[in-house]
Amino acid sequence: MSLPTLKHPLVTLRGVRLRDTKALETALSRDRAWLEPWEATTPVLRLTPNDTKSSIRGLLKQAKDGSGLPFVMVHDGEIVGQLNVSQIVYGSLSSATLGYWVVESAAGKGITTRAVAMVTDFLFFERGLHRMEICIKPENTASLRIVAKLGFRYEGLRRRYIHINGRWADHFCFALVSEEVRGGVLARFEEGRARQDAAAIPDLDWVKARNPLT
Ligand SMILES: CC(C)(COP(=O)(O)OP(=O)(O)OC[C@H]1O[C@@H](n2cnc3c(N)ncnc32)[C@H](O)[C@@H]1OP(=O)(O)O)[C@@H](O)C(=O)NCCC(=O)NCCS
Repeated sequence: MSLPTLKHPLVTLRGVRLRDTKALETALSRDRAWLEPWEATTPVLRLTPNDTKSSIRGLLKQAKDGSGLPFVMVHDGEIVGQLNVSQIVYGSLSSATLGYWVVESAAGKGITTRAVAMVTDFLFFERGLHRMEICIKPENTASLRIVAKLGFRYEGLRRRYIHINGRWADHFCFALVSEEVRGGVLARFEEGRARQDAAAIPDLDWVKARNPLT
């Protein structure tokens, strides 16, 4: 799948390139403490994705085979983070999943919230995808705010779902399907029409997520 450029006054999304390696490496190492608690890791090899060039190569391979769309987020002319669409499948599922990060100095400006909205709209309305999923660790208050602000719908708790920062972590999963947002996710958010209560997490799931899986 070709990588489009998606523009908003606050953030431009464009396809990641190998020549972004240096800028991403600098951001990732400077913001290590900010990002590490949320970073996906590899259980068997005990590796962290700290080789930026190979990680970009992997993402570009996914873009080529159509299973991913790897973007960088650009704000004021600088790369401030990444937003990766992965697990893109078509056919009767027509679904994908989203992951993202921004540098700490760019946090709180609404950049990732707009980026998630734009890319979801692109995949729903330009590429015909039906469902977008975001899974978040219970402790990640900032990321939980993104799904709430955009009106993603809570789907449930997945126990020990993704290997994060060296261990299997529970995740709360949220989704949107295209018929919920016919006028677009970005427009709904910017016009203040997103229902934040859609992302509400039942007390029982909070209790489960705080307790060990037995
Ligand atoms: C989660 C994350 C991507 C949010 O990106 P963002 O561009 O700051 O998003 P927004 O500006 O829309 O802010 C979302 C929430 O972050 C929190 N936030 C705002 N400024 C913040 C700051 N300086 N530091 C920490 N959190 C902040 C607020 O709760 C905010 O919600 P609000 O708008 O209701 O106040 C960013 O915090 C991040 O990269 N964190 C580390 C990596 C990560 O957690 N990735 C997601 C894994 S699921």
